[in-house]
Amino acid sequence: MPSVRYPLAFAAVATLALAVSPRAQDTSSSTPRVQETSERPAWQEHGIKPQSPDSPFEEVVSGLYFRSKETQAMQADDFNNPGFLAVEQGEELWSKVDGAAGKSCASCHNDAASTMKGIAAAYPKWNEKLAKPVNLEQRINICRSGALKAEPWAFGSPELTAMTTYIRNQSRGMPVAVKVDGPMTP
Ligand code: HEC
Repeated sequence: MPSVRYPLAFAAVATLALAVSPRAQDTSSSTPRVQETSERPAWQEHGIKPQSPDSPFEEVVSGLYFRSKETQAMQADDFNNPGFLAVEQGEELWSKVDGAAGKSCASCHNDAASTMKGIAAAYPKWNEKLAKPVNLEQRINICRSGALKAEPWAFGSPELTAMTTYIRNQSRGMPVAVKVDGPMTP
């Protein structure tokens, strides 16, 4: 099995994290706003309106736009983006038989491109059996120990990072769709 050369590289494709910009006109603050008259920073041009009307923020901006132009260009190019090394390793692990049940993930879930499409966007998700929310890594390990009868992968291990990145990549570009009602109400 090839080792993942950049174990943290999955962060490069996990660009769903949103950064927030505070309200432009915060009149309650007594601190002089030196930036006010200068040009808007380039990343602010990428701000979008928050989906919730209750949001305390005027706009939200993807963390992507806080990165250097070089890093943005590298991430935009799938061939140069080191995160895709993890995607490739995850794809190999997907159909690799492991554990006492003699199965691979593909034995039950077939083609991840269709069965895992949109799945990662909904995580963390409520797990009925455990009666608690689980994140994607935990869900993968539930299938490893339960369905494959294999050792769960350690958190932060190249294997779990690769599988998580592979499954996340099947939701690429899709909006985050985590449920926050029912048992998942904050
Ligand atoms: C023996 C069949 C079987 C195998 C093998 C298996 N799974 Fe699963 N998996 C299931 C079942 C059943 C569910 C629950 C489906 C549901 O909740 O609707 C599930 C659910 C999942 C989910 C959550 C789907 C969702 O809708 O939230 C993920 C992610 C997942 N499996 C990943 C994996 C990975 C990765 C592997 C290989 C390490 C694997 N599974 C191996 C049967 C299997």
